[in-house]
Amino acid sequence: MPSVIDAPADVWVLAREHPAPLMRATRALSEALERTYGPRFAVWHSDELVFGVRGGRLALQTLGGQDVPLPKVVVVRQTPGSMEQHRELTLLRHLEHMGAVLINSVAAHQLCGNKIWQFQELAAAGLPVPDSLSYATAPFGGVVRSPQVATPCVLKAVNGRNGAHVFLVPDKEMLKSVSGSLAQDVPLILQEYVAASHGRDLRVIVVDGEPVAAQVRSSRDGSLTSNLARGAAAELCLGRYPEGEALAVRAARTLGLTLAGVDLLFTAEGGHTVCEVNAVPGWRPRMTTVVPAITAAIEKVLAGGGGGAGTEAGAAVGTEERQRQSGSAGQAPTTA
Ligand SMILES: Nc1ncnc2c1ncn2[C@@H]1O[C@H](COP(=O)(O)OP(=O)(O)O)[C@@H](O)[C@H]1O
Ligand SMILES: [Mg+2]
Repeated sequence: MPSVIDAPADVWVLAREHPAPLMRATRALSEALERTYGPRFAVWHSDELVFGVRGGRLALQTLGGQDVPLPKVVVVRQTPGSMEQHRELTLLRHLEHMGAVLINSVAAHQLCGNKIWQFQELAAAGLPVPDSLSYATAPFGGVVRSPQVATPCVLKAVNGRNGAHVFLVPDKEMLKSVSGSLAQDVPLILQEYVAASHGRDLRVIVVDGEPVAAQVRSSRDGSLTSNLARGAAAELCLGRYPEGEALAVRAARTLGLTLAGVDLLFTAEGGHTVCEVNAVPGWRPRMTTVVPAITAAIEKVLAGGGGGAGTEAGAAVGTEERQRQSGSAGQAPTTA
């Protein structure tokens, strides 16, 4: 039985199920939070918890049947690829409804799980994004033949990550010829190719409305994608692109993210456009400002500063509702 039950924690890192090891950044964050909060901190994995309603109250338990006291703050570090609506996201909703403040909120995680959902919000807020075309149930073979598709274009899955499902398509013939053989488990996006940014992007880590780290990532082999997972090189550059950092802050705020990894493309005009926003960003050990910034954001919540730390969705997650549910759950968070 986890000893944490006897010493309720105020602050959790919630990671994906065993046996997946913690991401390097998540491990570093957990070690730092352990040093800061001692027994008031715990790492939980999504496969250790069961939840539901008991006697009309929301309940959270271990598999062994022990009640789990609700933390005040949960730093959500499940990888985006393991964020399923009926599984991880349901657990996150449960924690939020019981009264925990999530970094990031469920609403923000849901938005970030789909690149078109993100663009719907960002474009509505007037932020620059590349022209993009997607679909609901239209056949992909028909979509690629529609007149608004221009080539070259970038083809990507709505929920891809690590650059694994991002391709440069040089011409319409190629697009038509591959259209029948592409996986169709999720819709695809046909996106304007931002040629000035080929093989290069600007990744900004935003915490609580501040750009705390930035790096230019460059592919080493001439390929389109500049993800580190695909072997790209990275150079720290905080302060070099203030306009890009300001755009990243606006993007994070628009999507309601307290912690965000914003990918920006370089435009031919010398500015930036938003490529995508990540709700569970990694960071490199040299980005020493990230963990202290996350700790400060946690402190703000513990001090009663509310969730979302000044973000729009943070305000929108329904503080009143959470407090009401927390009261009815009868599991008052432990005090500091
Ligand atoms: N429209 C585009 N024009 C030019 N390069 C792009 C474009 N979209 C993506 N890229 C490149 O591909 C990388 C991965 O794309 P992204 O949309 O961030 O997907 P992922 O979620 O897999 O990281 C980007 O970081 C960038 O280097
Ligand atoms: Mg990306």
